Amino acid sequence: METRVELQIERVAPGGDGVAHVDGLVVFVPRTFPGDRVSARLVRGKEAWAKAVEVEVLVPAATRVASPCTHSQTCGGCPWMGWDVAAQRAAKRELLADLLRRMGRHSEWPEIQVVAGDDLGWRSKAEWLTGAWRAGAVLGYRARGTNDLVEVDDCPILAPRLRDLLLGLKNGTVALPREARSATACLDESATGAVPGASFSAQDRADAPLDVRDADRRVRRMVQGLPLEFPLRGFQQGNAQLLSSLVDRATSGLDGDEVLDLYSGSGLFALPLAARGRAVHGIELDAVAVRTARINALRLGLEGARFTHSDVQVWLSRQARIPEAVLVDPPRAGLGEAVVKQLVRLRPTHIRHVSCDPATLARDAGALVRAGWNCLRIDLLDMFPHTPHMEVVMHLERPQ
Ligand SMILES: C[S@@+](CC[C@H](N)C(=O)[O-])C[C@H]1O[C@@H](n2cnc3c(N)ncnc32)[C@H](O)[C@@H]1O
Repeated sequence: METRVELQIERVAPGGDGVAHVDGLVVFVPRTFPGDRVSARLVRGKEAWAKAVEVEVLVPAATRVASPCTHSQTCGGCPWMGWDVAAQRAAKRELLADLLRRMGRHSEWPEIQVVAGDDLGWRSKAEWLTGAWRAGAVLGYRARGTNDLVEVDDCPILAPRLRDLLLGLKNGTVALPREARSATACLDESATGAVPGASFSAQDRADAPLDVRDADRRVRRMVQGLPLEFPLRGFQQGNAQLLSSLVDRATSGLDGDEVLDLYSGSGLFALPLAARGRAVHGIELDAVAVRTARINALRLGLEGARFTHSDVQVWLSRQARIPEAVLVDPPRAGLGEAVVKQLVRLRPTHIRHVSCDPATLARDAGALVRAGWNCLRIDLLDMFPHTPHMEVVMHLERPQ
């Protein structure tokens, strides 16, 4: 459609876009918020929806605020930057409640508790792209809607030590090989180099580490008083301030001497549970994460923690019984029908469901509730302020 239309933004969609209606079409409008009135051109999707492009805000929503980031107009990260943080949190709670009702196909869920930290200075891991060279590297993120580099001179969501590292790499006080095409940076309690407390790996165009030692490099983070290690280039939770709170909400009150930790990564939940005297068995598909979890257990003398390298569904399908207490933290795709089916067959009493995708959580938790578990508690941790992402911990219990 070549002509422009005026749109009133009504709410936000789970992906973060504003949603409006015009001529029977649902329109997704990037980087807009409920209450905005905008003008845009529409690009039709296959069904009764369209995407808005070339969006111009005519009347801003009352919840718009001055952006704390000078790059928010061009940078592809943080699509909700410039929206009042209390409104962001209310929207996340509504999105989750709506998904639980619609995709979970169940109407009686407990009230959602929102847990929040600071909205700036939280990010503990970052991927920076590198471009041309000046005194130091030109560093930045992907631009909105393209793969182009947007150079940034600062990034206020980064934890302070990562911010120092970004500035050091840019002004040349921290050396980066010139052939680097990207850098992965994380907080690291064991780092004593140019920026104490932060480490990075430089990568080539194919995302391979330029220094071969980085392939196996681990970083250290304090979690509930335990110095845990994670692969520098592998999965780790991304919010420095809410990490211990996430572990606390996922593990506290998990009754029973034995706990099964499905999708256990490097042992973020299993190791604090083992430190509290539980016998924990982690199941994880990524070999580097399994190795890191075992190294953590050995280093910390946590003999109660063991880790098996396996696909969760395959492993569960071979079990005749499992512990009464099970923690699950699947990737975005969720548990899926096959794993839910195995849990229903094995009938653990307690399930702690940790999820970074509210849609697949709603689908899987709905299936578990229909199979007999009660949902007792839902915590929404706002671990990714200024983005639509959220982390959710749900407590499910099966009546005896
Ligand atoms: C969201 S992460 C959680 C990791 C860990 N609980 C943490 O918070 O650090 C999901 C984990 O599931 C693992 N994973 C993905 N698919 C899997 C599968 N089919 N079977 C077992 N583990 C899998 C990934 O390698 C990743 O470590």
